[in-house]
Amino acid sequence: MPDKKIMITAALPYANGPVHIGHLAGVYIPADVYARFQRRLGKDVAFICGSDEHGIPITIRAKKEGVSPQEIVDKYHAIIKKSFEDLGISCDEYSRTTSKNHYETSQDFFKTLYDKGKFAEEISEQYFDEEAGEFLADRYITGTCPNCGNENAYGDQCEKCGSTLSPAELINPKSMLSGNVPVLKPTKNWYLPLNDYENFLNEWIIKGHKNDWKPNVYGQVKSWLNEGLKPRAMTRDLNWGIPVPLPNAEGKVLYVWFDAPIGYISFTKEWAAKNGKNWKDFWQNDNSDLIHFIGKDNIVFHCIIFPAMMKAHGDYIMPTNVPAFEFLNLENEKISTSRNWAVWANEYVEDFPNQQDVLRYVLISSAPETKDNNFTWKDFQTKNNSELVGIFGNFINRVAVLIHKYYGGKIPPGNEQAEELKEITKSATEIEFYLEKFEFRNALSALMNLARFGNQYLQTAEPWKTIKTDEAKTAESLFVAAQIAAALGQICEPFLPFTSEKILKIFNLEKKNWNDLKSNPVLIKSGEQMNEAELLFSKIEDETIDNQINKLENTKINNQKTNPNAAPMKTEISFDDFTKIDLRTATILEAEKVENTDKLLKLKVDTGTDVRTVVSGIAESFSPEELAGKQVMILLNLAPRKIRGIESHGMLLLTTKPDGKLAFVTPDEKVKNGVEVK
Ligand code: MF3
Ligand code: ZN
Repeated sequence: MPDKKIMITAALPYANGPVHIGHLAGVYIPADVYARFQRRLGKDVAFICGSDEHGIPITIRAKKEGVSPQEIVDKYHAIIKKSFEDLGISCDEYSRTTSKNHYETSQDFFKTLYDKGKFAEEISEQYFDEEAGEFLADRYITGTCPNCGNENAYGDQCEKCGSTLSPAELINPKSMLSGNVPVLKPTKNWYLPLNDYENFLNEWIIKGHKNDWKPNVYGQVKSWLNEGLKPRAMTRDLNWGIPVPLPNAEGKVLYVWFDAPIGYISFTKEWAAKNGKNWKDFWQNDNSDLIHFIGKDNIVFHCIIFPAMMKAHGDYIMPTNVPAFEFLNLENEKISTSRNWAVWANEYVEDFPNQQDVLRYVLISSAPETKDNNFTWKDFQTKNNSELVGIFGNFINRVAVLIHKYYGGKIPPGNEQAEELKEITKSATEIEFYLEKFEFRNALSALMNLARFGNQYLQTAEPWKTIKTDEAKTAESLFVAAQIAAALGQICEPFLPFTSEKILKIFNLEKKNWNDLKSNPVLIKSGEQMNEAELLFSKIEDETIDNQINKLENTKINNQKTNPNAAPMKTEISFDDFTKIDLRTATILEAEKVENTDKLLKLKVDTGTDVRTVVSGIAESFSPEELAGKQVMILLNLAPRKIRGIESHGMLLLTTKPDGKLAFVTPDEKVKNGVEVK
């Protein structure tokens, strides 16, 4: 039988922001180490990822930044893709779920399940915003938490007391789109009856993977199954997403957790087409291992829902393993995108040019494998200075310098059977053992232990002393040291790809198959010529670390100062832009309601330059009677707009009070009409 294919996926990051060290440590770097390692074994690997561009996280970000969802995903897809490239995350394909191929693949998948009668159609009552004309995702409804009384709880969760909610539980629900009270409206959706797959999941995971899946993953699946599964809607009433490919399904899209994992398949197709491969060899053939790298919040989707979808479809293999990671904290606090408490991949690459491997090293060594872990800048500095510079870099550098000094860079003669060379075989075997079990930290320690061994060996052999008394001994010990250095260059590649490339260049070597490393530890022959040594790692100074710590402290100060619910600042404008705005003091002379509307008042306003008509959406906050004589501020040079057939000339300045009602922005003392604001 030919070698098994290895299908590696890494959770598709939402294109609603850049990726941070938590994502890197808990998904992308381990997946990359594993993929690189499997390639070194000579396996036929597909390592597939891409941006998750649908779903509420995207539309929320779009609303916050005041742009369209498409603009958001275009922006962050590009940023994420570049950070991955910069950090050496070696995806064979990094695509996106807005690609045409993905639309077709996921719609086909849906259609297959539909045609096979795998869905149940159900009508349910969902909240609807009548003014916006849209059904509301849970996140778009706020209200009072029934558990703790927090008035700003979301329809899916209360962030104050942490309880999980459904929109129907909120007291005084309000739509985030319009601020109005949403109404319940019946709507039809297609559900996957997960309960029908309980037996299958029990047999496959609970009976079949007790010993080879990580306890955190196995335990979560078990507790879900113990509670019993329920049908889950695979479609949503939203206007951002992949249209449901059925007649009479306008306004309905595929649930983001339906389309996103299918992305793994679509992107494999894209890669296969470009590389002369057959995607089905990876997805629809038992001679393939499917491995999903994910964070712990994704377990249910990858161990229950996506497998049930694939089972329902019928043509797909099940994942061999789903190594899920716990979370990484930053300076002992939870990483948070909204509070900007993070180290962003794209900023790291800018702040630490050519130091990608330092971040990779530190994040692998603190990978949250079995429990949450912590990243601190001090630890980052220590690991760089004492481990990468002090042990690893120091060893390679000493070997290179000594061979250049005593032998003009030619590998001296030595004993190919030397006892010490067994350490190389041992390390390669150990690393393989750990990586196959997804124990990345242990694997990295085994690598560092080989560097430590090399240093101790030099320390004991003292070639700088023997050169004066016993040249043959010097040659022998530097021959051994050269093999260890070359081995480090080979086996560090999955972890430290940039460093590996440099070491291989120093020793003029090609990448070697992992099995060959184990069977023959002589990696560089006597008489081979080396190149000049290159600096691998350099010391990171306190000042650099202090800058990063200050950056985080500033974030903290800003978070305390700002209102967490305030919209972020809009795009910066120039002073010239500002001077184009003609703001004046004015006085309302008359006000009347605009017929057939709840919100609009028609106002006659004395602007000091003229008397004009302004239509304003303030009827719910003021009665017409209380407005006559009121001093206001007007944006005078706004282009006239027709509102409900009335031409409105200018706009009054208002803000929102804590109770949600509007208040005029006015000078704090009475001034004449028509005076400019500067
Ligand atoms: N975007 C999701 C998240 O960040 C992960 C999607 S994984 C996939 O949590 F399988 F759905 F693609
Ligand atoms: Zn609460």
